[in-house]
Amino acid sequence: MSVNVEIEGEIAIVTIANPPVNAVNRAVRERLLALAQALDDNPDVRAVILTGAGTLFVAGADIAEFDRPAEPPFLPDVIARIERAAKPWIAAIRGAAFGGGLELALGCRFRVATESARFALPEINLGIIPGAGGTQRLPRVIGVTDAIRIVAENHTPGGAEALKLGLVDALVEEPLLPAAIAFARNALEHALPSPSLDRPVSVPSPDVWAEAEDRIAARAKGAAAPARALQALRHGIEHGAEAGLALERSIFLELRATEEAAALRHLFFAERAALRPAEIRGINPRPIETVAVVGGGTMGSGIAAALLNAGLSVVLIEQDEAGVARARSTLTGIFDSSRRRGQITDDQASERMARLETSIGYGAAARCDLVIEAVFEDLTVKRSVFAELGRICRPDAVLATNTSYIDPRLIAEGLPWPERFLGLHFFSPAQVMKLLEIIPTPETALDVLATSFDLARRLGKIPVRSGICDGFIGNRILRRFRAEAEALVCGGVAIAAVDAAMRGFGFAMGPFEMQDMAGLDIAFLYREAARSRGEHVPDIPGDLLVRAGRKGQKTGGGWYDYAAGDRRPQLSAEAERIIAPLVGARNDVAEETIVARLMAAMAQEGQLILDEGIAASAADIDLVEVHGYGFPRRRGGPMFQAARARADKT
Ligand code: 3HC
Ligand code: NAI
Repeated sequence: MSVNVEIEGEIAIVTIANPPVNAVNRAVRERLLALAQALDDNPDVRAVILTGAGTLFVAGADIAEFDRPAEPPFLPDVIARIERAAKPWIAAIRGAAFGGGLELALGCRFRVATESARFALPEINLGIIPGAGGTQRLPRVIGVTDAIRIVAENHTPGGAEALKLGLVDALVEEPLLPAAIAFARNALEHALPSPSLDRPVSVPSPDVWAEAEDRIAARAKGAAAPARALQALRHGIEHGAEAGLALERSIFLELRATEEAAALRHLFFAERAALRPAEIRGINPRPIETVAVVGGGTMGSGIAAALLNAGLSVVLIEQDEAGVARARSTLTGIFDSSRRRGQITDDQASERMARLETSIGYGAAARCDLVIEAVFEDLTVKRSVFAELGRICRPDAVLATNTSYIDPRLIAEGLPWPERFLGLHFFSPAQVMKLLEIIPTPETALDVLATSFDLARRLGKIPVRSGICDGFIGNRILRRFRAEAEALVCGGVAIAAVDAAMRGFGFAMGPFEMQDMAGLDIAFLYREAARSRGEHVPDIPGDLLVRAGRKGQKTGGGWYDYAAGDRRPQLSAEAERIIAPLVGARNDVAEETIVARLMAAMAQEGQLILDEGIAASAADIDLVEVHGYGFPRRRGGPMFQAARARADKT
């Protein structure tokens, strides 16, 4: 870390250089505090420019420090010192000014930025609120309405919008520093504006708070931080900046110490580490521009949409005209719905469809850099697809299967150049779900692995490497989770009680509601196949339901009943009667017990997966659950939960 000072005439330039993102840690705080004094004492200096080294300003406070108690000097005090300095400080910003970075900039008397600048207070994503004056200075600089969107709703303006908002005083071209120096010289010719904290602020309408509360509550999904950030902002408007700063800091310190914030920090670092596993460091990925997707059903269409969204060209291969027409209409539907939700423009939707080519037969795969197979889950069908691809594709083209359960080694048997083959397991809907399980075989080349991680990054996915086992990481844990849920029911716990407990924990749906939505038949057929191979697989309640024709929502009932056209589950006396032979006496257990049983089952399976070397780390398992299976983000994942439970006991 270094905070460098250069003097250019009467202007001092202070550069925070703390790679990779200029995070403000204790050393930076100490140095800034000392510099504010030293530059005030330097009679040659009339103004100070504060900037960040490299491509960004400051990404925020150093999150790695948050597992320890806060250590002085505290950031609010450093910012207050800068704000009250005798010489005006001017923030010169390119790239991210996030969290404590934006708060530092707000403590400066002026802000100049390039178009590349981005401003955010992403603290709520970490389960905390801004802790260094962001909730107080921002509304005094840009007004209450826009400040709420940035403080509590994750709005992230760029340079041009920041100028319109009044968040920056001038938008300048690169090179940034000479432009900032010219700005400073000019500013010194005029009266200085008030410090941010001293500026007047008013409430645009009395409804502003209630409206913001409603918007925040609708999106909070149980997270506490957004409403608390609003509370701090409002307090400062109603009771003055000093009271606002005090409340902000106390909420910040309170939330920083919560389990939720610890869980979110754990995921923050896990998500970043996931993109850069040690084994592929320094290995160049193969260039990928055109991708063939074989099979345009549920998964193939979703994968094609994800690729098109990321700017790649796609050739979608189906068996016949009907398959092609179905896939085209699914993709049109996907882009139409993004358009309706305002996520993309009409032109972008058309441009994406223009990058799609459809084909019957594999000829077009010859010019593709990557092929992703998503045909029926059947070894013979998949093998015949790869036999064709092996003949047609370039030897350096990467070939991937999206199989859910089949051993990729069996699929690749006999494939020429098997080092280019691996599993790329997307999750449904593939254009939405962030998880990508990457499953190399023992023969997969390292640069093919690196290509897959690079592809994940380009698609905005979270890649997790999995070894080969039945169900890979995610479906293997899912199976154990479901088995435990059924064991609870067999032990007399009500179906609805299990679902309610898991919803209470933060899942969008309980395990039985989820099965009804996805269909009970696939897992049933899987168990039946094992039985037909002579394996001993005892009947479970789900088997009885499927045999009675109850396969879930699609048949009007599974664990619950469903009225026609209504997805809301209704308690089902029929389902209870069908499973009764396997169910013990009614046993009402506490929600915490249900959650603890299901968490323990997931964590035990996770531990086996780790011990067998299937997953590289416990954090990877958490990422699989959070990004592929709806595990509540604020709970950090099953392995995080287990580690915290162990720590509590010691
Ligand atoms: N503290 C510590 N480390 C950080 C960090 C932070 N605030 N922000 C990023 N990092 C680390 C990452 O963990 C990663 O480390 P690694 O190389 O060891 O994996 C490295 O910096 C690079 O990060 P990214 O991979 O995310 O880099 P990108 O270039 O893709 O993105 C960024 C840059 C947009 C700045 C992104 O890193 C980001 O959004 N950072 C987090 C911003 C944030 O949440 N700030 C608020 C912090 S809390 C705060 O400021 C409290 C205050 O109110 C008192
Ligand atoms: P699907 O049945 O919706 O689609 C399969 C498509 O492949 C059909 O459109 C079919 O016409 C086409 N097809 C079959 N043989 C073909 C061939 N030889 N050439 C070209 N096209 C062919 O199936 P779905 O659900 O999309 O699954 C596909 C694969 O993805 C399976 O391996 C499945 O296990 C896996 N998967 C499925 C997930 C899901 O949630 N549905 C999740 C993750 C993986």
